[in-house]
Amino acid sequence: MTTPGQLKELYKQGQNISAFLRKEMGVEHNTHEIIETSYDLQTGSYIAAMQDEKMLKHQKEYTQEIAATILSLYEPNSILEAGVGEATTLSGVLQHMQSEIHAYGFDLSWSRVAYAKKWLKSKGFNNTFLCSGDLFNIPFLDNSVDVVYTSHSIEPNGGNEEPILRELYRVARKYLILLEPGYELASDESRQRMDSHGYCKNLKGISDSLGYDVLEHKLFPYTSNPLNPTALTIIRKDNDVESPYSILACPHFKTPLREIGGMLFSPEALVVYPILGGIPCLRIENGIFASKYEEVMKTG
Ligand SMILES: C[S@@+](CC[C@H](N)C(=O)[O-])C[C@H]1O[C@@H](n2cnc3c(N)ncnc32)[C@H](O)[C@@H]1O
Repeated sequence: MTTPGQLKELYKQGQNISAFLRKEMGVEHNTHEIIETSYDLQTGSYIAAMQDEKMLKHQKEYTQEIAATILSLYEPNSILEAGVGEATTLSGVLQHMQSEIHAYGFDLSWSRVAYAKKWLKSKGFNNTFLCSGDLFNIPFLDNSVDVVYTSHSIEPNGGNEEPILRELYRVARKYLILLEPGYELASDESRQRMDSHGYCKNLKGISDSLGYDVLEHKLFPYTSNPLNPTALTIIRKDNDVESPYSILACPHFKTPLREIGGMLFSPEALVVYPILGGIPCLRIENGIFASKYEEVMKTG
């Protein structure tokens, strides 16, 4: 088994780490470990790409169009990018939103979230909250964010579209917007490529079968790789419940977390979620079972 240290070297040499790991593990679809490892090792590459004029132009057009799409539907008080990566998309979207908006993001990879935080700060966005988290168990309460969107983060989770859609829909209050590979709208060559990478598919079909109100499903006008065309899927959630005051949730039980002793405690799970380098680590596997944590912290 190749160690993460060896994988880091292979990445430097230009290896496609997810393809390498799929082969080594003998699996067709990407596991969490494959996704986390391959994306974490890539950390810094999206921010570095912003130095490239062509990429920067694409980022501007892409994010301006996302913002225009959101604003054409609803004027949100809060948005969440699920699978935020290095926040190069989120920062572009925020540039076209009113400044008081609350913006949230999470990602499987801690390193990417750490870079995203620095990137957002360098762009002057202070009203943002980032944490690590998993699309399968999102660390936010039900109906807690007006508009939830994704930008190519469901992409590597082919085969697990339904549980991810259910989670995104649970957290959204008004709209769920997906910018993901448009498998059904793509050419044969693109589909073959998507299949070989284990990408997601049939997001519209699954949303329909879940009874979601799909307003639109079409190719998005901006795509960085013509072999991976982005499709826009807009799902409306007809919901008038107020968004909760505090929105972070235990990823296991989806119930509110309490900040105790500089950590986040789940009274339901009796688990403490650590905050590492200022980043709350809110994946189920990050939790430390500590049934006496509250008591110990109170008594000192
Ligand atoms: C192609 S990148 C896109 C990043 C960002 N959304 C953007 O537009 O630049 C995909 C991101 O999704 C994240 N991701 C993939 N699967 C995930 C999962 N199950 N839970 C949380 N994040 C995930 C990866 O770690 C990676 O940062």
